[in-house]
Amino acid sequence: MNDSTYRAKKFYQDKNVVDQYEQIRFKNWYGRMAHQTETSALELVVSRYFDEPGKVLDVPCGTGRLFPVMLKQGMQVVGGDISQEMLKIARVRYADEPNVSFEVCDAEKMVFGDNTFDYLTSYRFMSHLPQEIRGRVLGEMVRVTRKILVINYHVATLSPLYVFNRIFRRWTCSPYPMTLPELRKELAAYRNIEVLEIRKLSWYERSSVLAVLRKRA
Ligand SMILES: C[S@@+](CC[C@H](N)C(=O)[O-])C[C@H]1O[C@@H](n2cnc3c(N)ncnc32)[C@H](O)[C@@H]1O
Repeated sequence: MNDSTYRAKKFYQDKNVVDQYEQIRFKNWYGRMAHQTETSALELVVSRYFDEPGKVLDVPCGTGRLFPVMLKQGMQVVGGDISQEMLKIARVRYADEPNVSFEVCDAEKMVFGDNTFDYLTSYRFMSHLPQEIRGRVLGEMVRVTRKILVINYHVATLSPLYVFNRIFRRWTCSPYPMTLPELRKELAAYRNIEVLEIRKLSWYERSSVLAVLRKRA
């Protein structure tokens, strides 16, 4: 695989992978804890930074497992993903929810116009991408958003959980590891965003962070 592509772009288009997605990742005790940790961290930043109800793009939304956080805050949610199979599951889940809609989209070149969304959220994606593509995707995310972006990154740390995962659960780790200072440097290169906060998800999960970004006017 060269740096112009990456595994996650194709991997989640496979129906067998998608059918197992939540079962494998979020149904055992570890997965339930991870989902709960991610949900709580998102709840906190959404309630703090999404200052009024508006339109949120969750990209890539996968099965839409994080939509309830935004819906609870009165947001209108658009789920974008490149995988029709992922969207199929999300569409069924939210069939009766009037404030949810979907769009098949490639995050590298999104179909939306500039400033279409008030807010954007993104979980478990950036760490799948090689640096150049990550930069292109962030550029697109900023382009389509008017106010605040909340983006999940994985950073290399010496925390026990990170070291454990790196040794025993390698498949869960980013193929493109970077440190927190490297992430800060990467984000600082974007003149049109202000980094409001980079927060660890919790005291025990120190390698997964949420970058809260404000688009400059
Ligand atoms: C690990 S899943 C994360 C899904 C969801 N955010 C979550 O946390 O459950 C990665 C997702 O990225 C999507 N994806 C990969 N490349 C993409 C691209 N270029 N544009 C949009 N979605 C993409 C996959 O289809 C998959 O749904």
